Amino acid sequence: MRINKYIASCGVASRRKAEELILNKKVKVNGKLIEELSFQVDEQKDSVEVDGVKISLDENLVYILLNKPEGYITTVKDQFDRKSVIDLLSDIKERVFPVGRLDYETSGLLLLTNDGDLTYKLTHPKHEIDKTYIAMVKGQLSEEEIKNFKSGLYIDDYKTAPAKIKVVYYDKNKDISKLEIKIHEGKNRQVRKMCKAINHPVLRLKRVAMGKITLNDCKIGEYRHLTEEEVNYLKSI
Ligand code: URA
Repeated sequence: MRINKYIASCGVASRRKAEELILNKKVKVNGKLIEELSFQVDEQKDSVEVDGVKISLDENLVYILLNKPEGYITTVKDQFDRKSVIDLLSDIKERVFPVGRLDYETSGLLLLTNDGDLTYKLTHPKHEIDKTYIAMVKGQLSEEEIKNFKSGLYIDDYKTAPAKIKVVYYDKNKDISKLEIKIHEGKNRQVRKMCKAINHPVLRLKRVAMGKITLNDCKIGEYRHLTEEEVNYLKSI
């Protein structure tokens, strides 16, 4: 098995992150540092270490849904020492990592797992799953702006794929609109950039669904394990 797939299957990191680990010289096979990304592991015989820790294929796979509060990063650590979503998973002993990311200021549905293969699949540009957001934005959208949003916009020289948008309401007193937005891509700060591109900057943003998986009654800052049905659904995408 290719080394990055092996590391992902052990639940240590996604395939992409596994490649970074290799390039950062953190991976050894039978005591020797691995440099080629195409290295093939013999699952029966080889002993693989990541950061000095031996890894194996029989790790328990866990699938968590967290309702992320605003003010948390989705990486394990950052240079500003801000709080990480991992700090909220008090009794999860497996080393899980987020499926995609949410901005520091965004709240809502975040999946975390140590199943690197599923992460790879769900975040691959070829079959990125539909994500639903509720956005509070400045101002009232015109028909023209809604049409442009739906058909795709230029952000950072990139044309976004067609997206779905519904105006839930417009509050005339506060001059803000509540929108339901569905996109399947996952570019950095995409919803914020798309709303800015039609001159309606985001004031607050929350993700409420990924495909058919929804927050249900998971409260802010809390988490739950996905049901078997939900895991099978994600694997079938
Ligand atoms: N789009 C954004 O702009 N931010 C997020 O956190 C997710 C999607």
